[in-house]
Amino acid sequence: MVSIEPPNFADMRIGILGAGNMAAALGTHWVRAGHEVMVSGRDPGRARETAERIGGQAGDWAQAAQFGEVVLLAVLADGVPDVLAATELAGKVVIDCTNAVVQGRWTLATPAMAESVAAKSGARVVKAFNLCPDELWRQTPPPVAVPLCGDDPEAMDIVRGLVVDVGCVAVDGGGLERAALFEATAAVVIGLAVQGVEPRGILPVVG
Ligand SMILES: NC(=O)c1ccc[n+]([C@@H]2O[C@H](COP(=O)([O-])OP(=O)(O)OC[C@H]3O[C@@H](n4cnc5c(N)ncnc54)[C@H](OP(=O)(O)O)[C@@H]3O)[C@@H](O)[C@H]2O)c1
Repeated sequence: MVSIEPPNFADMRIGILGAGNMAAALGTHWVRAGHEVMVSGRDPGRARETAERIGGQAGDWAQAAQFGEVVLLAVLADGVPDVLAATELAGKVVIDCTNAVVQGRWTLATPAMAESVAAKSGARVVKAFNLCPDELWRQTPPPVAVPLCGDDPEAMDIVRGLVVDVGCVAVDGGGLERAALFEATAAVVIGLAVQGVEPRGILPVVG
């Protein structure tokens, strides 16, 4: 009989594509949980500054993608094509937290970003962390559940573990075809939030 070792998702290497709010908020939790994190960005100075602040290391896009057993895609949506062109992500577990929200109209410039990233890169994409603002992700623990969706069972397991390491409960949200719904929900939530509606009031609470 062949015995299969349960995967060990502790002490992972996480490459972060982006050096802004989401990189810092999520990276902080993952460093605290014992993972090694490499931050990357357009501006090497900002990547270095963010990496130093959270206790990680800095690199360029390609280095962070190569470094990560898991890669967090945390750039503005406009930058995603350039970042994909600069990185080799085929087969990698990629967490996509991006929202291609058109400010003011509260629609989506790219209506199915996660599926597009998966198709272009060959990565095992999981959509997660896109539904709440970085102010919440910065809290310890963030007071929200994290719905996630994706097609690859191992990638989903790994990201569930990283959700727990952030301090949250992971909620299964289905296959990657549902990521477009997560992204549309974010557009609605952000549009309402700028009108003063508390986003947590319209999202499910897991207690
Ligand atoms: N912040 C939130 O509350 C929140 C919540 C959920 C999801 N998200 C999503 O998460 C992603 C990151 O958000 P964030 O708040 O972390 O953004 P941010 O603080 O503005 O940082 C964005 C990062 O993307 C880089 N970038 C911007 N435009 C680029 C381009 N055209 N080409 C390459 N790189 C580019 C920035 O580089 P520079 O430093 O050089 O500008 C920076 O490293 C976005 O897709 C956003 O929609 C954000």
